[in-house]
Amino acid sequence: MSDIQNKLSAYSSRFNQQIEPLFCMPHGPQKRVVEAMKYSVLNGGKRLRPYLVYETSRLFGKSFDDSFYAAASLEMLHTYSLIHDDLPAMDNDDLRRGKPTCHKQFDEATAILAGDGLLTYAFEILATSPYADDIKIRLISLLSQNAGAFKGMVSGQMLDLYAETVKNPENPSELISHIEEMKTGCLLSYSCQAGAVIGRADSSSYEALTKYSRCIGIAFQIADDILDVEGDQQLVGKTLQKDSAQNKLTFVSCYGLDKAKDMAKQLISQAKSEVEIFGQESHDLQALAQFIIDRKY
Ligand code: IPE
Ligand code: IPE
Ligand code: MG
Ligand code: MG
Ligand code: MG
Repeated sequence: MSDIQNKLSAYSSRFNQQIEPLFCMPHGPQKRVVEAMKYSVLNGGKRLRPYLVYETSRLFGKSFDDSFYAAASLEMLHTYSLIHDDLPAMDNDDLRRGKPTCHKQFDEATAILAGDGLLTYAFEILATSPYADDIKIRLISLLSQNAGAFKGMVSGQMLDLYAETVKNPENPSELISHIEEMKTGCLLSYSCQAGAVIGRADSSSYEALTKYSRCIGIAFQIADDILDVEGDQQLVGKTLQKDSAQNKLTFVSCYGLDKAKDMAKQLISQAKSEVEIFGQESHDLQALAQFIIDRKY
């Protein structure tokens, strides 16, 4: 394992320990939905988004604990997006993080509610966190925009479904960039912006991290599209070769594997140069950017 993978895995262990007590089981039959939420959040996952919140906030002297509430809230929201993405009406997936998807393990209605519960809980965690009020408001507003239906993740998911149904989109390269920026890029962007907000970053640092996050966001989804074609299912933990089976528009279907790889590489080299202004301190963010395209999972 590379140095950055070791750091990510050490971070994940600590993060998992701290997030577990956030699932306090209610009494009565309604506890099923909380069980489904907990099952989906605690069943693995790279914790890349929480780690980005932590790493970016660290540039401004913030600690694991300082970044934890924003990181936990984001992982709740990300997990909701996965549960709903896997539903039969969306990507219809049976496997997630190497385990049965939420609707397979529980049932479809419970999975819908578990997603709803996690989305709501994300904002409850921020609203009740110990952050100063101005930071809280900034985080809540950034997260809602990046996750939402106007120019955020939900919007990207809608376009992803739309693209499945059109045979010859007018401008496929513009459409795929739009899809990937929104369905995946937005939450990755938020991860870095959240770290900057917690750290009360000055505007040039905020700008640099925003540019970095936009590049890694798209590169991350290109890597996901590539893994769907040539990954190892055991390592990826998802059913592979599904994108072409479902007629998804992806960077690979649009440009072919080689060009998609080149584009991801270029984005990662741009991402690395965007954070050079932080000097030595940017080492881990640079390594993480590289991991995003080198990863096998
Ligand atoms: C999967 O995200 C969904 C995409 C945006 C491609 P991750 O690959 O970060 O999933 P986990 O959290 O590690 O399971
Ligand atoms: C989904 O993209 C991104 C989300 C918003 C969840 P994919 O549909 O490609 O993600 P996977 O491959 O199922 O993880
Ligand atoms: Mg999808
Ligand atoms: Mg999917
Ligand atoms: Mg995918």
